[in-house]
Amino acid sequence: MKERFVSWGRCLWAIVGGVSIRVKVLGIVLGVIVLLSAFVIVQMRSVLTDKLLDELAAQGTSIADSIAYEIASIGMQADPATLNFYLLNRQIHYSSSSHNTLVTYIYVEDSADGAILGAAGDMSLADDEAVAPLATHAHGLSTVEVGPSFVEVAVPLPNSNDLLHMALARTNIEATVRSVTMQLLAITLLMMAVGFAAAIFLTWILARPLLGLVSATQSVAQGDLSRRVPRWANDEIGELSTAFNQMVESLARAEKERSAQAKQRERYVSGVILAQESERRRIARELHDSTSQSLTSLLVGLQNLKAAATDPRLEPKIDELRQVVSGTLEEVRALSWRLRPSALDDLGLQVALQHHIEDFCQRYGVQVDYVVRGLVDRLPPEMETSIYRIVQEGLTNIARYADATHASVIVGYRHNMIRVIIEDNGVGFDPGIVHTKNKSLGLQGIRERAGLFDGSLTIESKPGSGTSLFVEIPYSAEAPGSAEAPGSAEAPGSTEVPDSAEVSYASESVA
Ligand SMILES: Nc1ncnc2c1ncn2[C@@H]1O[C@H](COP(=O)(O)OP(=O)(O)OP(=O)(O)O)[C@@H](O)[C@H]1O
Ligand SMILES: [Mg+2]
Repeated sequence: MKERFVSWGRCLWAIVGGVSIRVKVLGIVLGVIVLLSAFVIVQMRSVLTDKLLDELAAQGTSIADSIAYEIASIGMQADPATLNFYLLNRQIHYSSSSHNTLVTYIYVEDSADGAILGAAGDMSLADDEAVAPLATHAHGLSTVEVGPSFVEVAVPLPNSNDLLHMALARTNIEATVRSVTMQLLAITLLMMAVGFAAAIFLTWILARPLLGLVSATQSVAQGDLSRRVPRWANDEIGELSTAFNQMVESLARAEKERSAQAKQRERYVSGVILAQESERRRIARELHDSTSQSLTSLLVGLQNLKAAATDPRLEPKIDELRQVVSGTLEEVRALSWRLRPSALDDLGLQVALQHHIEDFCQRYGVQVDYVVRGLVDRLPPEMETSIYRIVQEGLTNIARYADATHASVIVGYRHNMIRVIIEDNGVGFDPGIVHTKNKSLGLQGIRERAGLFDGSLTIESKPGSGTSLFVEIPYSAEAPGSAEAPGSAEAPGSTEVPDSAEVSYASESVA
């Protein structure tokens, strides 16, 4: 039983809660008016009917008394013709508008044997209504029976056993009650109209600032922190508006601070990355220009020494030294390349990546598919460097952790967005735990490099099912200040890599 009430309650609340405040207030106001009016009308009809019936009964008793007195004083009951004539005369007399009564019938009855001594009016109603009187009251010697359509009064004739019965129709009472009911209904309709207007006004006053607050909240949720709401009145809704404005102001302040901090951090990261790149470039140049030159001179010197050596036992030792120096020279060149591939500056991202991936395949024995789509010309140098480093870090991670046999690098440009995808079929990992590794900076570095250009990194991986890194960097070829735009055929420095390059590198030696 309790559950049924609860479920009805929920159902009702689902309906009531689902409509707007305007409909709720209108419903409550109109419902209360209708209920109160119905109660007043029913109560009023009942009280008024009782009161008018009492008055009709009293009036009937008084009329019946006077008729009974006149009949008894002349002894008319002994002469039926005279009695009938007299009764008809009385019926007509008391059915006029001046008395405000309507006599349905009137008759004299011998109370000893019930014989009718004389009568006037529609006597058939007497039997019908007598069957089911609504109420019977005794007033002294007289009785009153209230039937559905008339009130019957019975009074004894003075000094006689006979009874005079007279029925007065309720027509006038019903007309009066109906007229009062109609007036009350008209008042109810008027009250409903006034209530409706008042409710509309009330809901307008309530809903207008609330709707303003809802729209402002939606704007704030979409990031517009400049929205404020007017304070309509000094009530609770006014307080709410002020609190909302204060909240948005503190949000805007916090957002301003956050974006200032983010900009500062961006500047810092960008400075660090640029410094790192320039240092790499310097060391690479140093290795190439100075160390390589010195080692080359050493090689030539050893060659000269070998030619000038008089002791033949020195020759194999000199050859050994030459091999060591030659190997070191190769390593220094490779190190210099990795630090700052000259192809990146001279030939651009696509060629530099191509060389790097070839080198990667040879070193680690992983097959790599390399695909370039939609990228024809050079990107801004710092963007090329960042993308190169991103791919470099992605591939290094594959070599170090993935234990993969196959990987792919896709660089694409479409709809003003550069997309770099680095995938492998290796062991995978849980990206959630990367944040907890304080010393791991590779993926963080990818995110920061992408972030420098308002880009983002998405990692898709789980243990046992490979890893995919998605890097997206917005780049508009037409954007002012952007370097050579992708797609412009005459852009200087464009490489010989075709519009869409798709190269697959298989390892020659397994690491
Ligand atoms: N392709 C991959 N396959 C499997 N695990 C990976 C892969 N890439 C990254 N990981 C996991 O994510 C972790 C974080 O990588 P991240 O490059 O950020 O740092 P790191 O390589 O450990 O250190 P750093 O790059 O700073 O030298 C790695 O330690 C490794 O466990
Ligand atoms: Mg790493």
